[in-house]
Amino acid sequence: MIIKKLLTRNSGLIQPSEITDQKIYLSRRKFIGTATRASAAIAAGMVMPGLLRNSHAATSLSVKKLSNIRKSALSTQEPQTPYGDVTIYNNFYEFGTDKDQPAQHAHSLKTRPWTVVVEGEIKRPKTYDIDTLLKLAPLEERIYRLRCVEGWSMVIPWIGFPLSALIKQVEPTANAKFIEFTTLHDPKQMPGQRSGVLEWPYVEGLRIDEAMHPLAILAVGLYGEVLPNQNGAPIRLVVPWKYGFKSIKSIVKIRFIEKATASSWMKAGPHEYGYFANVNPAVDHPRWSQAKERRIGEFLKRDTLPFNGYADQVADMYAGLDLNRFF
Ligand code: MTE
Repeated sequence: MIIKKLLTRNSGLIQPSEITDQKIYLSRRKFIGTATRASAAIAAGMVMPGLLRNSHAATSLSVKKLSNIRKSALSTQEPQTPYGDVTIYNNFYEFGTDKDQPAQHAHSLKTRPWTVVVEGEIKRPKTYDIDTLLKLAPLEERIYRLRCVEGWSMVIPWIGFPLSALIKQVEPTANAKFIEFTTLHDPKQMPGQRSGVLEWPYVEGLRIDEAMHPLAILAVGLYGEVLPNQNGAPIRLVVPWKYGFKSIKSIVKIRFIEKATASSWMKAGPHEYGYFANVNPAVDHPRWSQAKERRIGEFLKRDTLPFNGYADQVADMYAGLDLNRFF
């Protein structure tokens, strides 16, 4: 993300929204152009649908349909960002700092067997096998906006279940005030961890009431299929009213704690990344405005909404909090 640009290119004054690598932008346009042409060709009866499916599969590292998915009233009706964009334009520094690197390199991540340790201030600590977690609660489709701190956004049809379902099962004690989430640390599988761009493993956190909020989910899929590795397989957090970096990928540990710990991004840039990271157009990043965003696939920027448009549902949790100070 931003720090990397500082460290590697010493270009701190360049705005991330302006450095959306042209190479990636162009390859994305090429992909969309190809997909559009393929759809047109199918409509004209010129190619077999399998060809288009292949272009879909080519961007995904583990395509597998998920079944019995419920719709959710919490989904947005906005147009969804094409699958091809959602799965080739990624931030997953464990596989490189460029947007196209996760899709290229994340095949080295082995998502089975996979366990998630749940521990700390809870009555029922447990190591969950991923396939047990998949059955913990009915899977739902949650179509959410994702707003990256870099100034772009997408609309993604996630598949997952409320984080609250897991929290209730492990029975937090009265001391459990925060939850810390940790990504896998294995430089053999995650080559980006051989660089010092962030402190590894990637760590994020939520206050317990935020984690219990119905909008917060653990996602295991998108577009009706299991999560592609580059999107955080086999299980990741999605917190739609916060900047995208809070939505930690490939989780192996969930720890209930009394005092908040600093996240990887807070350690990398304490003045730039706060603990809350609520989307807030009124609080600029120290080096660029957060007032607008570019929805991937659109040309003109649009206004960024407080709490990413989820204010009605989440603003109460921050009543009385100075959002300029607690950004
Ligand atoms: N989780 C881990 N472990 N490593 C990362 O580099 N990047 C974050 C977040 N989760 C990141 C991560 C950022 S900055 C964003 S914007 C989102 O993942 C992007 O999610 P997506 O690639 O599925 O759109």
